[in-house]
Amino acid sequence: MGLIRLDRFLTEFGIGSRTLVKDLIRKKKISVNGNIVSLPEAKVDPEVDQIAVNGEFITYQKFEYYMLNKPQGVVSAVSDRFDKTVVELITESSRKGLIPIGRLDKDTEGLMLITNDKALEHLLLSPKKHVDKTYYARIDGCVTREDAALFEAGMKIDDTIVVKPASLMILTQAEESEILLTIQEGKFHQVKKMFEAVGKPVKFLKRISLGPLTLDETLSAGEYRSLNADEIAKLMEYKNFGLQEM
Ligand code: URA
Repeated sequence: MGLIRLDRFLTEFGIGSRTLVKDLIRKKKISVNGNIVSLPEAKVDPEVDQIAVNGEFITYQKFEYYMLNKPQGVVSAVSDRFDKTVVELITESSRKGLIPIGRLDKDTEGLMLITNDKALEHLLLSPKKHVDKTYYARIDGCVTREDAALFEAGMKIDDTIVVKPASLMILTQAEESEILLTIQEGKFHQVKKMFEAVGKPVKFLKRISLGPLTLDETLSAGEYRSLNADEIAKLMEYKNFGLQEM
């Protein structure tokens, strides 16, 4: 992070508004490396300096990673004029700069990663990285092996868009079918359009994995938790993400 103004850091960390933070500084409630600091514009390095608010040290972590089980009715955005957003569901954090990685439709549920790690967002969304995304879906119609063969060959979903080969597993096959579909792209409404192309509409869609991450089944729709150390390590190991320079 390097050097940053003390008031800006404390605001971005989520201590409070700029006005509140300035007030705390003036009231001598903030110390840096054991010394009270009274200038809001003082420069600090949060990765090196020990900063305390009202005597309590701040544990600064550069990045936050949350796994959310996105419920239906919420949009994949930071803010929205009309709808509640996935970022607004992360109520534990007042950190600025949290973003959802990728998009799920308003009526799609499931695994959503929310972070302030922009480099990771870039890697996970890069078409060149072929990140696997697996969806569970209930389909209106009997999904067949022929559909699976079409999906595996790569198919046209609009007049012009051709999607890459995708792997389809049929779980149940009847008037309504249950499937798992793994795709490596994130084209707009891709899963719905793939099934529309074979005349079988998606009735329910839920993402259950993204790259090396699998949705924690103990999270009900709308619940979230921080990624654990093991999951963060898996993300960094995945396709050498942790070693890539941005
Ligand atoms: N494909 C879709 O059609 N919708 C989603 O939300 C995700 C993938």
